[in-house]
Order: sequence, then C-alpha cells, then structure tokens
Amino acid sequence: MGSNNNGRTTLEVGADGVAVITIINPPVNSLSPDVLHSLKESYDEALQRDDVKAIVVTGTNGKFSGGFDITSFDGMQSGKVEQPKLGFVSVEIVSDTLEAAKKPSVAAIDGLALGGGLEVAMACHARISTPTAQLGLPELQLGVIPGFGGTQRLPRLVGLTKSLEMMLTSKPVKGEEAVGLGLVDAVVSSHELIETARRWTLDILARRKPWVATLYKTEKLEPLGEAREIFNFARAQARKRAPNLKHPLVCIDVIEEGIVAGPRAGLWKEAEAFQVLLKSDTCKSLVHIFFAMRGTSKVPGITDRGLMPRQVRKVAVLGGGLMGSGIATALILCNYTVILKEVNEKFLEAGIDRVKANLQSRVKKGKMSQEKFEKAISLLSGVLDYERFRDVDMVIEAVIENVSLKQQIFADLEKFCSPHCILASNTSTIDLNLIGERTKSQDRIVGAHFFSPAHVMPLLEIVRTRQTSPQIIVDMLDVGKKIKKTPIVVGNCTGFAVNRMFFSYTQLGLFLVERGTDVYRIDRVITKFGMPMGPFRLADLVGFGVAIASGMQFIENFPERIYKSMLVPLMQEDKRTGEGTRKGFYSYDNKRKPSPDPELYKYIEKSRSISGVAVDPKFVKLSDKDIVEMIFFPVVNETCRVLAEGIAVKAADLDIASVMGMGFPPYRGGIMFWADSLGSKYIYCRLEEWTKMYGEFFKPCAFLAEMAAKGAPLSAAVEQAKSRL
Ligand SMILES: NC(=O)c1ccc[n+]([C@@H]2O[C@H](COP(=O)([O-])OP(=O)(O)OC[C@H]3O[C@@H](n4cnc5c(N)ncnc54)[C@H](O)[C@@H]3O)[C@@H](O)[C@H]2O)c1
Ligand SMILES: *[C@@H]1O[C@H](CO)[C@@H](O)[C@H](O)[C@H]1NC(C)=O
Ligand SMILES: *[C@@H]1O[C@H](CO)[C@@H](O)[C@H](O)[C@H]1NC(C)=O
Ligand SMILES: *[C@@H]1O[C@H](CO)[C@@H](O)[C@H](O)[C@H]1NC(C)=O
Ligand SMILES: *[C@@H]1O[C@H](CO)[C@@H](O)[C@H](O)[C@H]1NC(C)=O
Repeated sequence: MGSNNNGRTTLEVGADGVAVITIINPPVNSLSPDVLHSLKESYDEALQRDDVKAIVVTGTNGKFSGGFDITSFDGMQSGKVEQPKLGFVSVEIVSDTLEAAKKPSVAAIDGLALGGGLEVAMACHARISTPTAQLGLPELQLGVIPGFGGTQRLPRLVGLTKSLEMMLTSKPVKGEEAVGLGLVDAVVSSHELIETARRWTLDILARRKPWVATLYKTEKLEPLGEAREIFNFARAQARKRAPNLKHPLVCIDVIEEGIVAGPRAGLWKEAEAFQVLLKSDTCKSLVHIFFAMRGTSKVPGITDRGLMPRQVRKVAVLGGGLMGSGIATALILCNYTVILKEVNEKFLEAGIDRVKANLQSRVKKGKMSQEKFEKAISLLSGVLDYERFRDVDMVIEAVIENVSLKQQIFADLEKFCSPHCILASNTSTIDLNLIGERTKSQDRIVGAHFFSPAHVMPLLEIVRTRQTSPQIIVDMLDVGKKIKKTPIVVGNCTGFAVNRMFFSYTQLGLFLVERGTDVYRIDRVITKFGMPMGPFRLADLVGFGVAIASGMQFIENFPERIYKSMLVPLMQEDKRTGEGTRKGFYSYDNKRKPSPDPELYKYIEKSRSISGVAVDPKFVKLSDKDIVEMIFFPVVNETCRVLAEGIAVKAADLDIASVMGMGFPPYRGGIMFWADSLGSKYIYCRLEEWTKMYGEFFKPCAFLAEMAAKGAPLSAAVEQAKSRL
C-alpha cells in the first residue's frame, strides 16, 4: 500500500465490523500522492469486504492530518511531477468514494485537521474530535484555495459567514468551538476518541444517528439574496485587505458557484481554479516563503553537527530601556524566568513599568487574560547588582551604546556568571569582538539583534563572530524559536542583514524627490507594491534622530554609496523630526493620523537649491514601475553584496529578513525571489543605464554583474564557500 517514504494508510477490521483506516505519514500525516492513492485503495477494500460494516478514518501520533503535502507543490509547478487528472482527488476519491459510499464513515480527529485533512474529514458522515484539535482551511496562506471540496463543504457545515472567515483568514478553530459551529458532531478526550467514533459509525448504520452527506446539506446556507450580500461584503473586504491578491477573490467565486449552480458544479470549478492557482507566481512565492521560514534554523556547519540545544531557564536582561524591556516582555510571555538589571532604583522601576505596560496592552486588546498577566509578571524580578547572576543560563545586554561601558559589563559578566552562560548583546553598532576584548569568553559571546518593539517584531538576527561556538548558536536558535521569533544567523557587518539591505530605501526616495517626483506619490506607489509603509512614512515613524544615527554608520562604511540630500537636515533645523514631533514628511493629528503637509514643499525647494539639482520633467512623470525599480534595485544590489560577503548563508534567509524585518510582501517571495522573477540581467541592465545617466552611485555590484553575465538567478549562489563572518 504505497511506499514507506511518502506515507501510506493502514486498514484494520475489528470484531465489531468497523474498519479503522489510519493515515500514516509522519510528522504531520500529510496527504502525499502516495497517501491519497493508498486511502482510495483502503476504501475500496473496506467497501468490498463483507466483514466491514462501517469505517473510521483517523491519523497517527495524535494528529489527524496536516493537509496536502506541500513538498510536492514544487514538482507539480515545474511539471516534474505529473499532476493528478482534474478532479481525481476531490471528485473521484473524496466525493464519489468516501462520501457516496454505501457504508458510513466517521472521522476521529485529534491534533491537526488542516487543509486536505479537514476536507477528507468533512466528506465523512460525521466527525468526532478532541477539544484541543485544530480544524481549519489555511490554503489561502499558500496562494491556492482548498482543492478537495473544502470550498463546498465548509459553508454547508458552518454557514457562509463563518466559512468565509475561516478560509479568508486561514485561522483554524479548536474542537470546542467547532462543535458549536456544527463542524464536528461531538467532542471527547483523546483516549475515548476511536471507541466513540466506532460506536458512532455503527449508530449511523443502524439509523440511530443521521447519515449526512455534507455536500448536499442545505440548512446552514443562507437564502440566495442574503448570500449575494455576504459574498459582496467579503469581496470588498478581501480587496481592501490585500489589493494585490487575486486568489481570495477566486475562492469567493468558487464558493458562490456552489451556492448558485449547485455543489457538483462548485466542485469542478474548485478543481479547475486550484490547478490554475497552483502555477501562479503568488503561490510559488508563498510556498517559497513557507519553506524559507522553516529553513532559517538550518545553518550549514552549525546545525548539522548533531548538537542539542542546552536548556535555558533563567535569563538576565541588562538595561530596562525600550529594547531591554521589550526583550524581557518577550521572554516572560514564553515562560522564561527573567531578572532585569538596571543602574539605580528609579531606572529599574521605570523598566519594570515598561514591561507591565507592554503586557497590559495585550490584556486590553483581549489577547491575554488577567491570570496570564499575573503569571507572566511573577516571572520577572529586578536587581541592581550581579549577586543573582550565578545560576543564569543566558544574559542579554541592552544598555546604551558605549564601548567602554559594554566592555566593562562583559568583563563583569565573566566574573559573576557560570562558565556555561550564553553572553548575548543586542548592540547594533559596536563590534562584538571589541565588546569581548577584555574577556576570555569570546566563544560564548553572540549578538541578539531584536527589532523594536522587541516583544512585537517577529525577526531575530543572531550575529556570530569568528569565535562564537556552534553550541552557542544552536542554543540561541532554540531560544529564538521558543520566544516565537524567526531567527536568522548572520555575520558581522554594519547594519547586519536587514538594516544594511534597506539602508538605501529612504535615500533613493530623496534622490527621486529632489528631481521632481512627488513625496506622497512615492509612498503611495510603494505601498501599492505591497510594503506596509513607503520610505517617507517609515522615516517619520522611526524618527530622524535614530535614522541619522544609524545613517552615520553607513556614511562611515559606505561613503561612495550615500546620496547626500539636505532635505532631512533642513527639516531637523526646524525640529520637524518625524511622528514623535508631530511633523516630518507628514503632519500628524492628535490620533497620530498622518496627512500630507503642503509646508513640506518649501523644504524640498530649499534642498534642491542647495544641492543644485533642477526638477527634471522625466522624474515628475515617472511611471509606477520606474519608481518601484529605482527604490528596490539598490536594495537588491546591497542584498547581493550581503550574500556575496557571506554575511548570510543563503538567499532564502535574506528573503525572510526582508519579509519579517521590513514587511516586504511575502506574496512576492522576498527581495531575492522577487528579483529573480525579473531576472538578474534585467536588473543589471537597468542599474547600468542609470549609472550612465546619474552616476556611479547606481553601479551594479560585482556579484550582480557576474550573475547577469551567466544569466543565472541571484539566489542560485546557495552557500558561500568562505563566510566572512
Ligand atoms: N531603541 C532603539 O530604537 C534603538 C536604536 C538603535 C540602537 N539601539 C540599541 O539598543 C540598546 C539599548 O537601547 P534602548 O533604546 O533600550 O536604550 P535606553 O537608553 O532606552 O536604555 C538603556 C538602559 O540601559 C541602562 N543601563 C546602562 N548601563 C547599565 C548597566 N551597566 N546595567 C544595567 N543597565 C544599564 C540605562 O540606565 C538605560 O535605562 C543600545 O545598545 C542601543 O544602541 C536601540
Ligand atoms: C514554565 O516553566 C516552569 C519551570 O521553569 C515549568 O515547571 C512549567 O511547567 C513551565 N510552564 C509551561 C506552561 O511551560
Ligand atoms: C561610557 O561609559 C564609560 C564607562 O562607564 C563612562 O566613563 C563614559 O563617560 C561613557 N561615555 C559616554 C559618551 O557616555
Ligand atoms: C564588524 O563590522 C564592523 C563594521 O564593518 C567592523 O568595524 C568590525 O571590524 C567587524 N568585526 C569583525 C570581527 O569582523
Ligand atoms: C552596488 O554595489 C556597488 C559596490 O559593489 C556600489 O558601488 C554601488 O554604489 C551599489 N549600487 C547601488 C545602486 O546601491
């Protein structure tokens, strides 16, 4: 029954005449082509055998099924793996074999029933689950729609409104909620699960329980007129939430087809739409991001040595400022015991208050119960000295940026902490080797670069030096994952990965503005492309003070690549330094809502006259495409350099850095994936063209030139042989 490698199902017939079909494909019992074929075979056998009266479908290892096997997407997209013929799974197996069978089936659901897993379960004649089971259709997250009948059956079980919500947000529901919705028929503990399902299916056979073919249920469906309103509302919302995405609208169309033309028509429309979407750029990009996210914690030469992460229970955070309190918040939220150290009572109290405020804002938003709040805050204690540092497993330093202060701190840490303790610094500008200069502990010093606010932003850059030991990196990766961050391992350079890749973002905006492109139009075009904010709105949010401080480092390190504009300094002279001062590129009202500010043009004029740049009609009428390319190709150029220098080990890590660190649209696959969709040659040629027109500033880097000459994708350089660290 199928090969062992790609999963199978088993069939066991009990004395009661119930056949239990078990899906076995660890770790999540995904529905690979082999599993699906085997499922059909098991069903055919169960339906033929005279000793089988009824069927239970279940999974192994406390999971029903995590859904369609995503690893086989790639093969089907590139045509290497033959796609099953249209409707084979959805119509032939799920509908015509399972649901239409002459013997009743009950799904016994523990753990996950997601995507295809839930779709198989919905075709059964009843569903029993555990209270904690997670049931959902998250396909839209991958740029496709449910493909095994989910668009037709979910609305018939839970109604249109709820089913649209579940599909469009990709959020699963727990068993407890599912029973109220009508998605499952009963909730029982996991040890009673199979027995209950066996009895249920025999009860169906004896007509003590209803024998329901979900596909033809209608009582949960709204009348047609009302349904149309629900669809139109959902469309408007989908367009608003994700104006660049087509597949949520396709999903709504497919659901509507089933309501208007009947469920069989809906099934066929679903199957056709699925095949088209599977080959879309959006799907390819989102699947790439899915794997790239999981791939960041695989670091060649580090995580392939069989090292196990050591247990970290207690963490000390030095400095209760913005960063330190955010880091402490992230840690206690995930059950780490934290001691927060400050220089005096006043600062300590302020730091602890910041942590409390961070938690309180979660309580207010209903994301956290008062009880959980109390529990979390009880894990935090404040100190003014190193007395209690002896049994700490990890220290994260987040004090002010001052070399001699940090050197002193690390020398003290070496004295007071145990020799196994991980010594991490969230420094953004100071060389880690310099910080550890006065210690003999350089092998356990590592950078932990959080993004502000640390308890909210999802990315963590783990910065290694030449000396950082693999064990320390493995430990950091583990802590990073436990506090629900996506960790990427990078080497040392100015700005590390994210800040360096995007250091030109605002600069190029300024370049365009001085030549006549409108500030607000640039932001609009960039947001339309899919960034959460354009370069000017972002500069306002960060504040010019911080932007300039970090800009200084880049000026020092990459002087040839700085576009010198007087616009920001001129605004600063008038204390217009961003959202914090209510005025920057935008002006902000009491609710911090930004609006364009006509006064800005005065500063732009002045800045132009100082730099002696005249308005160029070409820039006034620049196309959206040109704006996007002029802003992002320099980012691509820098990302190439980061890769070529071995700061990152793989291009996919930098895709994740761009998505999680800057909000680059995941449906474009991250910065390098997007660049490759345009082609290295195209990007190279455009940069060359601009170099001729506007100067060396635009010159493509050597790596980009090399890839363009070979016609090779930028992400092909998988691993750099020598990592500069
Ligand atoms: N927050 C940001 O946006 C930002 C931007 C760039 C860099 N950084 C970096 O983050 C780190 C901290 O930033 P922040 O914004 O939290 O700074 P902050 O000034 O708000 O907080 C630093 C805190 O550390 C405390 N401190 C100083 N010496 C200490 C010691 N020996 N032991 C314990 N505490 C001590 C200070 O009293 C202060 O409260 C710095 O390395 C800084 O370069 C932060
Ligand atoms: C939290 O950590 C403590 C020990 O540090 C442990 O006993 C407890 O089980 C943990 N709780 C959770 C929910 O992980
Ligand atoms: C940096 O820290 C050292 C040692 O704590 C202190 O003497 C010095 O004044 C600090 N420098 C600045 C610029 O704050
Ligand atoms: C880290 O990067 C900075 C900036 O480029 C540099 O000054 C420093 O020497 C680097 N340190 C190491 C160990 O490479
Ligand atoms: C690209 O990198 C090169 C360095 O190799 C630099 O000279 C050039 O200014 C960069 N171009 C852009 C547009 O950032």
